[in-house]
Amino acid sequence: MSATQQKAPAALGGASAGRNQERPKPTTPPANGKRIFDPATTAIKDHRPAEIEVSDTEEFLTADGLTRKAGCTWFQLPTLCIKEIVDNSFDYPGASYGYDEETDEHIITDEGPGISKEDIRRLFNIRRPMTSTKRWRRAGRGALGNGLRVACAAVRALHGQMTVASRDGAFRLTFDEIGETVMEPAGPPRDTGTEIRVRIDGKVDEDVIADSTLVPGSIHDGPSNAWAFGMMAFRNITRQCNHLTERQFAAQFGVGIGRDIPLAKVPDEGIKKLHGQLKYKPP
Ligand SMILES: Nc1ncnc2c1ncn2[C@@H]1O[C@H](COP(=O)(O)OP(=O)(O)OP(=O)(O)O)[C@@H](O)[C@H]1O
Ligand SMILES: [Mg+2]
Repeated sequence: MSATQQKAPAALGGASAGRNQERPKPTTPPANGKRIFDPATTAIKDHRPAEIEVSDTEEFLTADGLTRKAGCTWFQLPTLCIKEIVDNSFDYPGASYGYDEETDEHIITDEGPGISKEDIRRLFNIRRPMTSTKRWRRAGRGALGNGLRVACAAVRALHGQMTVASRDGAFRLTFDEIGETVMEPAGPPRDTGTEIRVRIDGKVDEDVIADSTLVPGSIHDGPSNAWAFGMMAFRNITRQCNHLTERQFAAQFGVGIGRDIPLAKVPDEGIKKLHGQLKYKPP
């Protein structure tokens, strides 16, 4: 330690800094008697923090947010994008996946129910809530209603291209700066199912895609099974079905019971009873 370093000047701080110095005097009001800041008159006594609503859509529009929502790294995004679309198609019969080297497109087709123009706009949409027909725990590759949001947001982030063709025609989809879907007509309708073509920058891991294409699905026309739901999960799905009546909800399980009252009006005890009735339905 050099001689000049031995005594730290008080101004630099340290435990003993300023110990022998005078405390600063409180500021005196200006000569005209007015205080510049008077806590007694400017404080807002009844303070209520303003509500700020943040839709999770915004998360899909930034690199950080998107990887968080997708649950993968930036470099895995192209693979995940294609995988989500493959998973959807392979939930239906007649699904196939191919890669066209000339056009640089991943092509995914299925012979499922097809998607109307209105539903293409609604489902291939970053700015939508989680939307799914697969919450009923019928066997399949989907569960949440998040897959297409991730796929569309990945196409947007990686400057890709997506075309969806189904019963109302083919449409080229782009997603603008706020994530809104823009649809342009791009070809004639298909007789059956859906074809999705995606061009996306970056490496798509063929092994991951191959795993998803092992067994094409089959349309399960039967009802859902109440045994697939524990009590908590059952209560959750009833609360997500507030738009259905008790009878409509029971019909999803293939059982003709329930009242024509909104499910939202059925108290917890009733929900518990309903679960039992749906599990032990008549053969
Ligand atoms: N090829 C398709 N043909 C018909 N309907 C489809 C097709 N792809 C998606 N859908 C419909 O769009 C919905 C939303 O798809 P999305 O991938 O976002 O969610 P999900 O498959 O239900 O669940 P997950 O988040 O696990 O993927 C599906 O539930 C399904 O009803
Ligand atoms: Mg899906």
